[in-house]
Amino acid sequence: MNNFTFSNPVRLYFGKGEIIKLKKELPKYGRNVLLVYGGGSIKRNGIYDEVISILKELDLNVFELSGVEPNPRVETARKGIDICKRESIDFVLAVGGGSVIDCSKLIAAGAKHEEDPWKIVTNQVHVKDALPLGTVITLAATGSEMNANSVITNGETEEKYGWSSGKVYPKFSILDPAYTITVPKEQTVYGIVDMMSHVFEQYFHNAKNTLIMDELCEGVLRTVIETAPKLLEDLENYELRETILLSGTIALNGMLSMGSDGDWATHQIEHAVSAVYDIPHGGGLAILFPNWMKHVVHVNPDRFARLAAKVFQVDPSNKSAEEVAYEGIERLRAFWTSLGAPSRLKDYGIDDSKLDVLVEKAMANGPIGRFKVLQESDVREIYKMSL
Ligand code: NZQ
Ligand code: ZN
Repeated sequence: MNNFTFSNPVRLYFGKGEIIKLKKELPKYGRNVLLVYGGGSIKRNGIYDEVISILKELDLNVFELSGVEPNPRVETARKGIDICKRESIDFVLAVGGGSVIDCSKLIAAGAKHEEDPWKIVTNQVHVKDALPLGTVITLAATGSEMNANSVITNGETEEKYGWSSGKVYPKFSILDPAYTITVPKEQTVYGIVDMMSHVFEQYFHNAKNTLIMDELCEGVLRTVIETAPKLLEDLENYELRETILLSGTIALNGMLSMGSDGDWATHQIEHAVSAVYDIPHGGGLAILFPNWMKHVVHVNPDRFARLAAKVFQVDPSNKSAEEVAYEGIERLRAFWTSLGAPSRLKDYGIDDSKLDVLVEKAMANGPIGRFKVLQESDVREIYKMSL
């Protein structure tokens, strides 16, 4: 393993009714709260009312920023930052999926800086401070509730980048699986693809002797693979939602990267697609990830063969590592297709007309990936395989 330092300060409150913990947490941070949410799902499913009634009971001054988009925009974060500065906000409370949380992280950081928030996203400004932030997660997918990452889109320039700062770890996150029960089937699938992809990004590395992490990654993947089809048949099943919600959090809270540096090229390749075409992140990953795998399998066929055998039950007897590896990749594709995920860019009406733009955006900061460092020609090939 590589040497590593691990620290994750997020306090999790997990389980039915845990929203009540807002009463314990919020009084720590001051009276002016900015409540951030998305396009209205929390109003339709009653979560908004539950949160507001607690905020009222605590007699806090509540300001609201609604309408955070899936693939959240820097333009929306700017609005939130203005409110924070104008109203002397003490605390940012994000209630929603990864997009709402990511936008709230940028608001929390931007409120403490004079520079435009896009400079934070593009790492031109180092985050020195941020308002404290708490989250109530309503969709199992990104792990944003327990990490320091945020992914933001600039609608004007059609760019989408991830940024990260230890200053924006949520102080606490409330994870009530019941709050995820209203997530529609399609969005549930995207979340499942996303969390599995997070494990893959961390599983493919070049560090040696990572057995404990390998087993943890494989365990998360097997759990999601066992649970997902049952959940899609029974979307209101609390216990299945519970398993998937915690899986998503564990998949990207930093733990699976202990002792190794993951790859993350596929995420950058996908972010370019959702920047230009505004498609759901999980949908893009479902299309791209198996093709990235096929493109890089030669780097370490044994690693792919291990995944195939341990997670996709491929029988390795009388087969070469390459054969086992390929069978595993095919089984992953078949699994995602069986859940209803897309498998080609044309499923979203995307053709090759902007291929150059996609390659340029994915490579904006130079070669990508660590398991295999991808050059322009590699990225172009992966997009072509995905058309
Ligand atoms: O906007 P509302 O009305 O709330 O509706 C949302 C949205 O339309 C809806 N939804 C959320 N909870 C719901 C619900 N509908 C019914 N019932 C509920 N309980 O679902 C839709 C999608 O929400 P969104 O937050 O966009 O989904 P997700 O959590 O998958 O987040 C995706 C974003 O996160 C980024 C992605 O790139 C994308 O921008 N990522 C963030 C990461 C991170 N911070 O660590 C890592 C990921 O790799 C990812 O890149
Ligand atoms: Zn992701």
